[in-house]
Amino acid sequence: MYYPLARKLIFQLDPERAHDLTIEMFKRTGGTLLDRVYRQNIAPNPVELMGLTFPNPVGLAAGLDKNGECIQAFDAMGFGFVEVGTVTPRPQSGNDKPRIFRVLDAEGIINRMGFNNLGIDNLINNVEQSQYKGILGINIGKNFDTPVEKGKDDYLIGMNKAFPHASYIAVNISSPNTPGLRTLQYGEALEDLLKDLTERKDQLSQQYNKHVPLLIKIAPDLSEAEIEQISDSLLKYKLDGVIATNTTLERSMVEGMNHASEAGGLSGRPLQLKSTEVIRKLDHYLKSEIPIIGVGGIDSAMAAKEKMDAGAKLVQIYSGFIYKGPELIKQIAKAV
Ligand SMILES: Cc1cc2nc3c(=O)[nH]c(=O)nc-3n(C[C@H](O)[C@H](O)[C@H](O)COP(=O)(O)O)c2cc1C
Repeated sequence: MYYPLARKLIFQLDPERAHDLTIEMFKRTGGTLLDRVYRQNIAPNPVELMGLTFPNPVGLAAGLDKNGECIQAFDAMGFGFVEVGTVTPRPQSGNDKPRIFRVLDAEGIINRMGFNNLGIDNLINNVEQSQYKGILGINIGKNFDTPVEKGKDDYLIGMNKAFPHASYIAVNISSPNTPGLRTLQYGEALEDLLKDLTERKDQLSQQYNKHVPLLIKIAPDLSEAEIEQISDSLLKYKLDGVIATNTTLERSMVEGMNHASEAGGLSGRPLQLKSTEVIRKLDHYLKSEIPIIGVGGIDSAMAAKEKMDAGAKLVQIYSGFIYKGPELIKQIAKAV
């Protein structure tokens, strides 16, 4: 693997420019012979979960391929599953730039992208064009200008459109960069959302004669009482799974470091322990009855194992992939 060298070059660039160029490169090379540069053979290590068979337990976390433009490239790298999005019903440009920052000293990233994406119709089109046959999660969100009280309508639009194309649907109610979104994680707002989403899922299952697991993605910034309450709601509405966690608003782990005080969500190694603790508590309150996909700061096989020991059945990576490269997929898949 040439990643250390590639990283040196990529890290010379502004983070968003580096991201856009890499996506463009993956888009052009995915599904062609040029994918040899990053193609990896990963020994099968299947996991049966939520009625799906994952070839290995390492997935790409949401946000890297927001528009589903280079799914085949991620497949070639050996990911056991790929989650695309977050995608919203209508295209939107997101927050002003700059909006991604590397916290190099801690191998962290702070982002306040704000769901920049080309809209769900574009994403579905990309998925249809792709030759990818593996497990595809579609992560859905609400548009910035849809009031939170009407957020449910956006998620229902997302579900309707994603359902025929997705292996699973992830409902993102935990981005810190869409004002008010995280309020959907609590109490009546959550119950109301889960009730309508699970009802719609049952209707769509009948309509398409297809099982598509429904998961929600939660934040790491939750008290134990909030985790317990969320778990009760997930059990009540029999959700298929939960993705824990999104990025954190906490900064104590990176205090004094360059870019540490930028607004947005912090990911990468500084998030590692915090998200593992959320997973541990979640698994306790869910009584291991609902599967957890563990994500947050996984940058080694050991960090992935810790997530699994805490109760995760699958893992996802984003920041670790940026800092360590595709080799990390192989290391984790071999070890867990
Ligand atoms: C630049 C960036 C953009 C992200 N965008 C999304 C997103 O659109 N939807 C989402 O659910 N999570 C998004 N995330 C969160 C990741 O999916 C993941 O939950 C989080 O970064 C923790 O994992 P990590 O430490 O491996 O990065 C984003 C993360 C980063 C760094």
